[in-house]
Amino acid sequence: MKILVVGGAGYIGSHMVKKLAKAGNDVITLDNLSYGYRDAVKYGEFVEGDLGDDSVLDSIFKTGDIDAVMHFAGFIQVGESMKKPSMYYHNNVSNTLVLLDAMLRHEVKNFIFSSTAAIFGEPEYTPIDEKHIKQPINPYGHSKLMIEQALDDYDAAYGLRATCLRYFNAAGADPDGELGERHVPETHLIPLILQAASGRREDIKVFGDDYETNDGTCVRDYIHINDLCDAHLLALQKMMKDDQSARYNLGNGKGFSVKQVIDVAKEVSGNDFKVSIEPRRAGDPAVLVADASLAKQALNWQPEFAELKDIVQTAWNWETEFLAKQ
Ligand code: UFG
Repeated sequence: MKILVVGGAGYIGSHMVKKLAKAGNDVITLDNLSYGYRDAVKYGEFVEGDLGDDSVLDSIFKTGDIDAVMHFAGFIQVGESMKKPSMYYHNNVSNTLVLLDAMLRHEVKNFIFSSTAAIFGEPEYTPIDEKHIKQPINPYGHSKLMIEQALDDYDAAYGLRATCLRYFNAAGADPDGELGERHVPETHLIPLILQAASGRREDIKVFGDDYETNDGTCVRDYIHINDLCDAHLLALQKMMKDDQSARYNLGNGKGFSVKQVIDVAKEVSGNDFKVSIEPRRAGDPAVLVADASLAKQALNWQPEFAELKDIVQTAWNWETEFLAKQ
């Protein structure tokens, strides 16, 4: 197959490009490098450009041989979305519609969309399955849900098939050590903890220890980037075989508290570091854990990195072998 990966220079996109190429597919990455890195695109063709730019999209699609599009070029920071909603609605909604309309013009009818657990809002129960009510509590979650809704309508009216994958907490790095997480600014827990473990950061700040959880800190479901990418490939194959749209929650189904993640990072790195307790961060639900049984059963998908220790180990290798040497 020939697959266009939009946002293929970012964290999840770059791992996906590698997975697709290794599975024998032709891959084109489109990325404007606003957050991505050119050197993270190690396979296939690279086009620098914006997903909201019709002329770039037309020039890519006009070859007529693209079978499917995977879209990873969303903005992802919840806090930033509260302060700058316009940015989120423009990129995550308007630009995505430009991409979808270009697909329709060129009769490309298979789409894989990076969605998020943030579409569910404050959980009414855990683990969260696909039926859980969707009530986002921030513009980031709204912007992703809007596209999920648009995709239902595009399917009904234009026959555009889409699979939306709601990620819980993507984590870890390419086990080969070629790729990893390089967000600037970094806001995610595991890379920040590992910066503290390697001495690049003074301490790790725990945002709240007074939640209704076992140790008072927030519980999240960490899913390894490779497992996430496997699920994308399986979802694409199933969608094309069945000619049907789908929605899946992707997680390990196991929750770990912030304190547990810190303990695992200390064990993996063999280093101690300072931990300071801070006030809660706005908009953080106490517990977010996926019920991923639908994805497991429908896609015959089984996460390989079921142990948090193994996930953190790959991220630690990336921190020490790549990031700390930058
Ligand atoms: N945390 C800290 N200290 C830090 C950073 C994070 O204590 O320095 C805590 C957070 O408060 C949270 C947990 O660690 O309880 C995980 O935080 P992350 O920022 O790593 O991830 P989130 O769960 O906030 O966000 C993830 C995705 C988002 C997505 C969201 C769905 O990164 O894109 O899940 O709710 F929207």
